[in-house]
Amino acid sequence: MTSGQPVSPGHLYGVGVGPGDPELMTLKAQRVITTCAVVAHFAARNRPGNAWTIVEDLVAPHQEVLRLEYPVTTEAVTKDSYESSIAAFYDESAARVAAQLDAGRDVAVICEGDPFLYGSYMYVHQRLASTHPTTVVPGVPAFAAATAATGRPLVSMDEHLTIVPAVRTASEMKETLASSPASVVMKVGRRLPEVVDAAEAVGIADRAVYVERASTGAEKVMPLLEARDQNAPYFSLVLFPGEAIDQRWSGR
Ligand SMILES: C[S@@+](CC[C@H](N)C(=O)[O-])C[C@H]1O[C@@H](n2cnc3c(N)ncnc32)[C@H](O)[C@@H]1O
Repeated sequence: MTSGQPVSPGHLYGVGVGPGDPELMTLKAQRVITTCAVVAHFAARNRPGNAWTIVEDLVAPHQEVLRLEYPVTTEAVTKDSYESSIAAFYDESAARVAAQLDAGRDVAVICEGDPFLYGSYMYVHQRLASTHPTTVVPGVPAFAAATAATGRPLVSMDEHLTIVPAVRTASEMKETLASSPASVVMKVGRRLPEVVDAAEAVGIADRAVYVERASTGAEKVMPLLEARDQNAPYFSLVLFPGEAIDQRWSGR
């Protein structure tokens, strides 16, 4: 390249890689991941990173891997100090991605499930999409894989679906579950007992299903009422399927 010529910027891709089973990745995700010069992924300290585990066999030695490691996970910190350190971390992660883009390299920021459904990619997107050419590749969300594993539909006919993170207070959780014909509770982990309590309090625990690590070799699916004592991992959710289909078609 002639020195002094401007480099055309690389393209930023936010790539959903699905819930765990590599076969649940889209063809587009695979193409983007295998053709970008750089593959970036988030990971907790001392962990390989869930999204990375899904794609690692696709990434060739000539591709650069940018590991974006969260600074804080389980340490006891105040909400304010956590929020300022995580914001600084996303600023720094976006700057590292931008440096690659500005050097003319395409970057795939991979994300477990779908990037715009509680996916960490969105914090990079928020910082770079207005200044860099960007494409988001949707992915199969975990709740879809979990629903498939239960073998029963999640919503039908005129029902609506509520997606709620388990970090809500007990009263918010009860109110949310009671007001929706079908719900998905995400980010369950250590909050599982509170989810069971809320479901029992509003009388819907018996139709709820607990699913952990959907679509992976370690998948577990069980009625919520049998799951109360599970040591639920972060990659777990609870489904409250709607009942319209049963009410409408029962007896046929
Ligand atoms: C930060 S959110 C990411 C969601 C993801 N972007 C998606 O589209 O599903 C992480 C939460 O998703 C859920 N989750 C992700 N993968 C899962 C899986 N394979 N099985 C069950 N739950 C999963 C869990 O509730 C977990 O706490």
